[in-house]
Amino acid sequence: MSGSNAEAVSTLRRYLQQRLDTGEKMALRVRTQPGAVAKTEPAASVTTSPAAIPQQHLAESPQDDSLARVAAEVRACTACRLHATRTNAVPGVGPDGAALLFVGEGPGADEDAKGEPFVGRAGQLLTKIIESVQMKREDVFITNIVKCRPPGNRDPEPDEIAACRPFLERQVRLLQPRVICTLGRHAASTLLGKQESMARLRTERHTYAEIPVFPTYHPAALLRNPQWKRPVWEDIQKVRRACDGAD
Ligand code: URA
Repeated sequence: MSGSNAEAVSTLRRYLQQRLDTGEKMALRVRTQPGAVAKTEPAASVTTSPAAIPQQHLAESPQDDSLARVAAEVRACTACRLHATRTNAVPGVGPDGAALLFVGEGPGADEDAKGEPFVGRAGQLLTKIIESVQMKREDVFITNIVKCRPPGNRDPEPDEIAACRPFLERQVRLLQPRVICTLGRHAASTLLGKQESMARLRTERHTYAEIPVFPTYHPAALLRNPQWKRPVWEDIQKVRRACDGAD
């Protein structure tokens, strides 16, 4: 994109965001990928869960916020104890304007070593899952609930999740994805504020910040439980249909 196009998109995004902040009900999708069109659409017609939070309640974003700025702040973050044991923080990867956002739980050893999410065995499986519905990994945005590795791959603590949450909220606000797909029960229950089984979560309709959310099994769990292949296959097809605006 040329400099003036980027500026125009950024001005449009700011203008639409201001309208949204005043309470206007619409979902913003400003696509910035090559060949994509800037457009606004009515909000998707999904049932809003009680845990759903309106867009305007997401963490405050600085005026000139950007995904690059969030990533830089994540890399410099010392807000919780996880910074002390990390090799690299893992802000997330993907293009500005990605229609699909995957949210995992937290980086593992491979991700900590590389500073990129889902690069180990589970990540390779995630790539295959994405490709199974004719999407490309480089076209989606991938991040985690917490951006630094919990030592020994333990579950993140509530205060670590709380310290990291504004980064995810800013990423959601900046991306305005069409669809969010959570990976594993922890990511879904943390994002949605619902303590339910995966079997139940994946069959209900959810939204987060007015964006439809599709919980599915974590690829690492799928590696251990091949019987979950079918449900994951069903879930990723639902995700694809929702990305296409069909659900
Ligand atoms: N598991 C996750 O939840 N996230 C990663 O980035 C890698 C493995």
